Amino acid sequence: MKQTGGSDEAKRRAGESAADAVVDEMVVGLGTGSTAAAAIRALGRRVDAGLDIRGVPTSYQSRQLAREVGVPLTTLEEATPDVAIDGADRIADGDLIKGGGAAHAREKLVDAAADRFLVVADETKLAATLDVAVPVEVLPDAVPVVEDTLEALDGVPTLRAAERKDGPVVTDNGNLVIDCDFGAIAEPAALSADLAAIPGVVAHGLFIDMADEIHVGTGDSVDVRNRE
Ligand code: A5P
Repeated sequence: MKQTGGSDEAKRRAGESAADAVVDEMVVGLGTGSTAAAAIRALGRRVDAGLDIRGVPTSYQSRQLAREVGVPLTTLEEATPDVAIDGADRIADGDLIKGGGAAHAREKLVDAAADRFLVVADETKLAATLDVAVPVEVLPDAVPVVEDTLEALDGVPTLRAAERKDGPVVTDNGNLVIDCDFGAIAEPAALSADLAAIPGVVAHGLFIDMADEIHVGTGDSVDVRNRE
């Protein structure tokens, strides 16, 4: 799993706090990344203790972890999530940038489908504005065309390189990821619409007005911010 900022303890607290909101017979969207993993592990312990739930994974990683800790799985074809629990790379004014682990296409699908979306994060993810590069998943053939369009939107695109493999990161969906730096994003909703309209873009990492609750773990507590 990729390493991100924030202590393991803070991530564990945030994940466990959101997992506590899950009750019997719920279908739960299982997010990707280290903080969502803490929630999946907490759900696994509760399933061991008798909790009756099914999870909808958002990535190869979350599916494997759910299997490992004993969370029964289902699909969006079979069931609609009552709740999704997922991490974030940046949080500003309730909006998110996701996709640091290149899972944002399926994360957006599952998180948006859920009746409630609980974000789990440590406090290093909080910022005044969304100010990290936006991951953009693109069809492999579309990379040059999309890069030109991103530059026309005043972004600085970089094709994400794989680690421990030559060449680019290939997503769980067989696509590539362009990280596009827009600096501090003044109008995230407008940028989200612009990015979504680019032919060849499968999904981008701006999650606008989707979060219902944000569980922020710190060194010794969890701050739950309700946005409903
Ligand atoms: C996966 O692609 C991402 O959207 C993750 O949810 C996000 O990067 C948060 O990951 P951490 O909880 O590991 O920081």
